Amino acid sequence: MAAALPALVSACGSDGGPDTSIPPARLTFANRLRIPPLARPATGPGGVKRFDLTMRRGQAELLAGRRTETWGFNGPHLGPTIRARRGDTVQMAVTNQLGEASTVHWHGMRLPARMDGGPHQPIEPGASWSPRWTIDQPAATTWYHPHPHGSTAMHVYRGLAGLFLIDDPDGPKLPSAYGVDDIPLILQDKRFAADGSPTGDPHRGTFGMLGDHVLVNGTHDPCLEVSTERVRLRLLNGSNARMYHVEFADRRAFQVVGTDAGLLNAPVETARVSLSPGERVEIVAGFTAGEQVILRSAGGDADIDEGDLDLLKVVARDRLAESPAVPARLADTRIDVPAGARVRRFRLNGHDAINGEEMDPSRIDEVVPAGAREIWEVENHVYAHNFHIHEVAFRVLDVDGAPPPAYLAGPKDTVYVPGKSTVRLAVEFGHHIDPTTPYMYHCHLLRHEDSGMMGQFVIVRPGTEDLVPRTLAHAAHHG
Ligand code: C2O
Ligand code: CU
Ligand code: CU
Repeated sequence: MAAALPALVSACGSDGGPDTSIPPARLTFANRLRIPPLARPATGPGGVKRFDLTMRRGQAELLAGRRTETWGFNGPHLGPTIRARRGDTVQMAVTNQLGEASTVHWHGMRLPARMDGGPHQPIEPGASWSPRWTIDQPAATTWYHPHPHGSTAMHVYRGLAGLFLIDDPDGPKLPSAYGVDDIPLILQDKRFAADGSPTGDPHRGTFGMLGDHVLVNGTHDPCLEVSTERVRLRLLNGSNARMYHVEFADRRAFQVVGTDAGLLNAPVETARVSLSPGERVEIVAGFTAGEQVILRSAGGDADIDEGDLDLLKVVARDRLAESPAVPARLADTRIDVPAGARVRRFRLNGHDAINGEEMDPSRIDEVVPAGAREIWEVENHVYAHNFHIHEVAFRVLDVDGAPPPAYLAGPKDTVYVPGKSTVRLAVEFGHHIDPTTPYMYHCHLLRHEDSGMMGQFVIVRPGTEDLVPRTLAHAAHHG
């Protein structure tokens, strides 16, 4: 129906004029928000959906009028959005044309460790890797990015990241017309050199680089025109270190419908959501015809969230298509742990170790029985960190003993761990047994992850925990 509505001419700014704002000037919202293309799968025998991804170098205009070298999947910058359904078997055919080794990790995907794309599944330059798995988890906004140990920060910063949306045909009805009323917003901060190339050392200082420009889907100074009364925004913090506190400039309320690992039980109304690196939040926001409103990030005092930043201008058309209301019930899963559940403790000190140990690809830190439900307690003795666990879904039980904000009580895989605080998680592990291929857990501030704030766990047959070797003889030492 959107096509029948009158277009709002130039509501999204002029289409010309090079932007020379380095350092940042006030945004003018001159550029139409880029929507990453949807990947088109080839359907093979048995209905397997094959997605081809090529990691390559290219040239992109991140700032208007300035071409610069960037990295991307299937294109010069970022990657296509992959969309598949629960129950689908997918095969990812990944080719590495970067000229150096990398990996592709499916962040948020619950799959066998050999398909996970962490540091143990390197793809050599010129080589291909074709993991295949059946999607068996609730609808969620997940994403993919490289994970080569020691170089993740640089590979992501140069542009390697994309979304992987999981739909559930049995799920509630939410806006889902991609690019129309279901809009991805990948937030990434950058610093730019005079030639328009992303600059700054993502391994510098305590947190790595914090940028002073925010690109949304790789678009600088972006504007989004909407044509429906309600729009689902899928926010991904794809930044190296920066945390965002996202709100509309007029503080309007919106509904949070999902977090990292799936939908909330019921929508939660709020006016602000915070995302540390790697986290996702799905919101449904309402707009009135003809209005314009800015989406921004408010600064905080966590060291990784400095400064107020405008993110995007939303322009509503003069006539909006009707949208159904957000259902009152969205999902009925809740992650709980049994009484007497095992508790594991993870101490964060400095920025290059967990429990006093730097990541060692040949060391298994934790052995977890398949299907376990455990409490993981993350105790931060220093400044801001966060914590991501591969393969699992978890629920935040409490932060320093207090329950998290309502919208953060849903299914997640990454959580902000404020300085000098303790976060307790109820963690649900999967059933893909493999005693010799580990999954990772780590701080998702990429500078910290790269410098060793990461550990490894394996999932084993229950009862065999003590029989599993804690050293991997053939661990890949790539980086
Ligand atoms: Cu998003 Cu181990 O990573
Ligand atoms: Cu991950
Ligand atoms: Cu950290």
